[in-house]
Amino acid sequence: MREKLELLERRRAESEQGGGPERIKAQHAKGKLSARERLDVLLDEGSFVELDRFVTHRSHDFGLESQQVYGDGVVTGSGKISGRPVYVFSQDFTVLGGSLSETYAEKICKVMDLAVRNGCPVIGLNDSGGARIQEGVVSLGGYAEIFLRNTMASGVIPQISAILGPCAGGAVYSPAITDFIYMVKGTSYMFVTGPNVVKTVTHEDVTMERLGGADTHAGTSGVAHFSHDSELASLQAIRELFRYIPQNNLGEPPKGAGSDPRDRRDEALLDVVPDHPNKPYDMHDVLKRVVDDGEFYEVQPDFAGNILCGFAHLGAHSVGIVANQPAVLAGVLDINASTKAARFIRFCDAFNIPVVTFEDVPGFLPGVAQEHGGIIKHGAKLLYAYCEATVPKLTVITRKAYGGAYDVMSSKHIRGDYNVAWPTAEIAVMGPKGAVEILFRKEIAESADQAAATDSRVAEYTAKFANPYVAASRGYLDDIIDPRETRPRLIEALDTLATKRDRNPPRKHGNIPL
Ligand code: HXC
Repeated sequence: MREKLELLERRRAESEQGGGPERIKAQHAKGKLSARERLDVLLDEGSFVELDRFVTHRSHDFGLESQQVYGDGVVTGSGKISGRPVYVFSQDFTVLGGSLSETYAEKICKVMDLAVRNGCPVIGLNDSGGARIQEGVVSLGGYAEIFLRNTMASGVIPQISAILGPCAGGAVYSPAITDFIYMVKGTSYMFVTGPNVVKTVTHEDVTMERLGGADTHAGTSGVAHFSHDSELASLQAIRELFRYIPQNNLGEPPKGAGSDPRDRRDEALLDVVPDHPNKPYDMHDVLKRVVDDGEFYEVQPDFAGNILCGFAHLGAHSVGIVANQPAVLAGVLDINASTKAARFIRFCDAFNIPVVTFEDVPGFLPGVAQEHGGIIKHGAKLLYAYCEATVPKLTVITRKAYGGAYDVMSSKHIRGDYNVAWPTAEIAVMGPKGAVEILFRKEIAESADQAAATDSRVAEYTAKFANPYVAASRGYLDDIIDPRETRPRLIEALDTLATKRDRNPPRKHGNIPL
């Protein structure tokens, strides 16, 4: 027995070597952690339970028979984040560039199946050159098995991806189906094909960084949701996310542990919205004064800044916040803002997280670029996401709610549960100036003093429409509230809505305008 135990110990130790000390050194030299070190940072100390450590690949082509490494380039298993079980896989770039073989795919599929069966989130730490070229179609098949599982698990368990190295080919499509993608500046890349292939096909000269670095995907393409300066910061941010999200679609999101009083009024909210309707202000100032302890976990902070999305706790309830941002493009809804918020709302709806909307929106962005880019189709995604959501939906109109954007942003008509406005709200088909120019163009053109005629009609229109009272008189708003009471009013509503039951008609699935 002792001899056999010694052999086991030797093999276990060998299985933890990855591609060997030299390659791990090279990994460190690039500012990257090894696959196992990453798991140590991500998971609660000592909680990792490894599976399949002795798996090896079955390939004999192109010299692979002499490159057998225990684990075959991916470390898989389960662990805990703040005491909550999660499944993980951590790709090891030191073994054949972290490339995916048949057996490597089987290991990932095993933990994904376990995650779904046991209702636990799955976290993938990605650092891979994509399909293992030597294995050909078998490796492609392995990827397809993962994509299928990503799709089947979507909306059932949270799926989180960290991109921690160069990820190419299939290594980017699996993360793309998952709920949140975290990238690291300077060391992580995502592209379908790298700069060399780009040069051959399109003759473009582009660096890895510009083609698929963290800034590109967090700020330009919108593929990534978060970018951090280091792997440590990225992995720590994933742990933080777990303060807001549940284990699965049947579970409740975790309660906040803060000590912020539920009935706290905030005097400063009286002065956040400027008197002049076209003057910008930072919606972060509103959010931070309303949520528990001012903590807002912002999602995609570097993309489509005209809309803010993120998680917070309100009276300990976990909520997803969607807020127009008047400080960027006047808070207008454009293509990027629509797709960003639509996907966020769908995550919240799938995982029982109430959606709280803060609204100050002048409408959809007009123009040739937006129309040709498909603002109709993309704006409809946001509309669709709000309409189909059955979680509690709460809306606070702080200032403008104009045109189609009034309907879209969680209005009463699309099953808003609790809709309130501040006294500063303006709700109408369009802003006063635009409306007057259409309605009274002839009258103004014929008047001796055109400016005075315009001003007089604008004042009349403003008095009649640019206020919340018409909407409130119809019951489209449940109340007009003192801004200082926003927090306690939202918390009371969340308490009441905690037992909300609502469902959509049975169907195979809807057809969201993609
Ligand atoms: C086998 C691979 C590999 C791969 C890298 N390696 N990618 N081995 N299959 N896909 C090996 C290298 O040969 C090398 O081995 C070691 O990993 C490290 O790679 P380097 O190139 O030295 O590293 P680096 O310079 O950092 O470049 C990393 C990289 C590059 C950008 C990822 O390796 C690369 O472009 N790889 C190919 C990417 C790709 O096109 N993959 C296939 C995509 S198709 P040695 O022993 O020399 O150190 C795909 C289809 C899926 O994935 C379907 C999707 C829908």
